[in-house]
Amino acid sequence: MTMTGAEALIQVTRESTLTDEVVASFGGSEDPRFREVMSSLVRHLHGFIRDVRLTQVEWDAAIGFLTRAGQTTDEHRQEFILLSDVLGASMMTVAVNAPARSTATESTVFGPFFVENAPFIENGDDIGDGMSGHPCYVHGSVRSATGAALAGVRLEVWAADDDGFYDVQHESRQLSGRAHFFTNEDGTFDYWTVQPAAYPIPHDGPVGDLLDAARRSPMRPAHIHFMVSHPGYETLITHIFVEGDEWLEKDAVFGVKPSLIVPFVEHEPGAGPPGRNLAEKWTSAQFDITLAPIAEPQRAV
Ligand code: BEZ
Ligand code: FE
Repeated sequence: MTMTGAEALIQVTRESTLTDEVVASFGGSEDPRFREVMSSLVRHLHGFIRDVRLTQVEWDAAIGFLTRAGQTTDEHRQEFILLSDVLGASMMTVAVNAPARSTATESTVFGPFFVENAPFIENGDDIGDGMSGHPCYVHGSVRSATGAALAGVRLEVWAADDDGFYDVQHESRQLSGRAHFFTNEDGTFDYWTVQPAAYPIPHDGPVGDLLDAARRSPMRPAHIHFMVSHPGYETLITHIFVEGDEWLEKDAVFGVKPSLIVPFVEHEPGAGPPGRNLAEKWTSAQFDITLAPIAEPQRAV
């Protein structure tokens, strides 16, 4: 039934008055950033509900979805990070925080599989022992934006095995394929792991249902996660992706950046670094990292 002009005016006024009232309800906070964020959140949320003319049945479905996401989350599974990832919200947060002009290595999505206090290793050690997949030698360097080698930089790495599972997804939860270590005096680092494979993000929960409804794939292209931290520099959270992977342009979480795609060179069995003899085929990948100095704090004008 179409509304008369007068009825439409009453409706619009009712809706926008409600938005103003809710925004004003957050105005008592002493924290200006909290007021700014909540005001924008309420305006966008109300704008979305008005835009799609959300039905009561759809509201119920949304609440049911979020309830299931909460029920699916535990100490080993973070369905809300997955939701943020598949909605592109994680990558949008990365994007708005990346300086437009920077020579530093680019960031990408964190993902839900980081574990605090991963084992310490020395450079050259192997963290792929017992994991399925061909041996893979990862090496590179960490430098400042001026090109100076950075010694003692802390690197954390984690990756799935050749079957597409992280250690924490296996029944035993035995840590593997992850470690922390520090760059050498000349800024270099190296370690052995297994060749990473493309894998699906966990899709047996509500986020999987969302992907199914959109006929979207849960696959991520093969990658290795890095977190690189050093006093005076911005902590870098990123991956390297395997050049040629068939999923590079269809990442379920929109995390691929061309600068992060590197060749994983194939080698025949035989001598490999550092003085190792490989009985099977192996690969090697180089990742040279540039860290950004800590950004100057933003000053209000
Ligand atoms: C990951 O790469 O570990 C990941 C990222 C986003 C969602 C799920 C997994
Ligand atoms: Fe991953």
